[in-house]
Amino acid sequence: FMVEKGNFRHFMAKEMHEQPEVVAHTLGHYIDMANETVRLPEDLPFDFAKLNRMCIAACGTAYYAGLVARYWFEALARLPVEIDVASEFRYREAPLDPNGLMLVISQSGETADTLASLRYARDNGQSVLAVVNVPTSTIAREAHVALPTLAGPEIGVASTKAFTCQLATLAALAVAAGRARGVLSAAEEKRLVRALIELPRLMNEALKLGPTIEHLARSFTQTRDVLYLGRGTAYPLALEGALKLKEISYIHAEGYAAGELKHGPIALIDEKMPVVVIAPHDSVFDKTVSNMQEVAARGGRIILLTDAAGARRAALETEATLILPDVDPLIAPLVYAIPVQLLAYHTAVHMGTDVDQPRNLAKSVTVE
Ligand code: G6P
Repeated sequence: FMVEKGNFRHFMAKEMHEQPEVVAHTLGHYIDMANETVRLPEDLPFDFAKLNRMCIAACGTAYYAGLVARYWFEALARLPVEIDVASEFRYREAPLDPNGLMLVISQSGETADTLASLRYARDNGQSVLAVVNVPTSTIAREAHVALPTLAGPEIGVASTKAFTCQLATLAALAVAAGRARGVLSAAEEKRLVRALIELPRLMNEALKLGPTIEHLARSFTQTRDVLYLGRGTAYPLALEGALKLKEISYIHAEGYAAGELKHGPIALIDEKMPVVVIAPHDSVFDKTVSNMQEVAARGGRIILLTDAAGARRAALETEATLILPDVDPLIAPLVYAIPVQLLAYHTAVHMGTDVDQPRNLAKSVTVE
């Protein structure tokens, strides 16, 4: 069937703006709203309480969703997580724990390397769980359990709404794992579920930054390189921000863990290269601020994504500070994904590139 752009200039714009709605839809599938609990399929072929570890494999943006999820599963469920890009995982001959779970994440459900990782794990006796957007796909069929993301068809090559729906599904799954493993109490589950329920409203708030970001993105068109920094779950978002920008604007970008700044990328800081710092006011915020000070001391151009409390506390000269709503740390990656996507989108539009079908890229990579 046909998917239309409606009033939007690009599918990517439409898909970014659909996020509050499709994330709500996805959460509706995994959350019992009346009881404020997570609801998973009853016939799971594994027991979270008995798992020793989980391996995650995925590609591109789906891999970054997996990187965010690692923080959640380790902190909320005390479940050790190993994660790799699927193209490496499939050939590493990784020994798998007999009490392990394999998780693959894919929008299309057809990515060749992700499918090969799934088959490797299955052939080695692992239970395989897939978080997948296309329910009829090969990955959905071959996994022991497929948890759908209900993002609907995604047309833009650069993934946006599929990413946040993957995150919503994985957050619910991590909370369920935390409960099953006795790490989270019923009250803690409720509190986290309430935070998830707030997402559509907060993501709508974040979308309101559109015009500000459109303006800011003009200055990006003059740059050759952009550095993205973050700590904790903001680190994978930094990687995702850099990927998005590269994919659609063709501007070189790198994502780095903020703490790694002094181990290399600091050499690149000058008055030309924008440094996008993703820093909600959370437990690692002060650490990120000290990295930002290192950038400022070298005359770097700082674009800070934070909340009101973070902006006050950072008390730093920036080129721009984008203020996001205050959010529970669990849901920050979904809210901060939006300005990161908008920045790449508006930069690409200013550059005049083909946003929905960037050169050399394919929506679904079914060959190695
Ligand atoms: C391609 C797309 C990316 C996507 C990746 C993984 O590279 O351009 O947007 O993240 O494949 O695709 P999947 O369908 O497995 O999520």
